[in-house]
Amino acid sequence: GKIIFIEHDDTEHVTEFRAGSTLMQVAVDNAVPGIDGDCGGECACGTCHMIVADEWFGNTGTVGDAEEQMLSMTPERARTSRLGCQVEITEAMDGMTVHLPEFQM
Ligand code: FES
Repeated sequence: GKIIFIEHDDTEHVTEFRAGSTLMQVAVDNAVPGIDGDCGGECACGTCHMIVADEWFGNTGTVGDAEEQMLSMTPERARTSRLGCQVEITEAMDGMTVHLPEFQM
């Protein structure tokens, strides 16, 4: 399986699907540009902001309180924005596409 990260300029990064990991960790491990994960997944830095493809958003679980707080401070927030460190990868995400916001390039 795969999870595909798409940069704002349409560059694709196809990563190996890893259930139990997080979207942030997989992006960092694959050197996907713009995903820094500065706080190590503590939901405190916002450098793992991602925009999930519409049709996959329902598979990413619910936005937690701390995540909601971080996202609410992000002007670039989109309807399907998530913090990658707060999204645990499950089997339901096999083949998912995730977009990277422009400002984070
Ligand atoms: Fe810092 Fe996600 S890695 S908020």
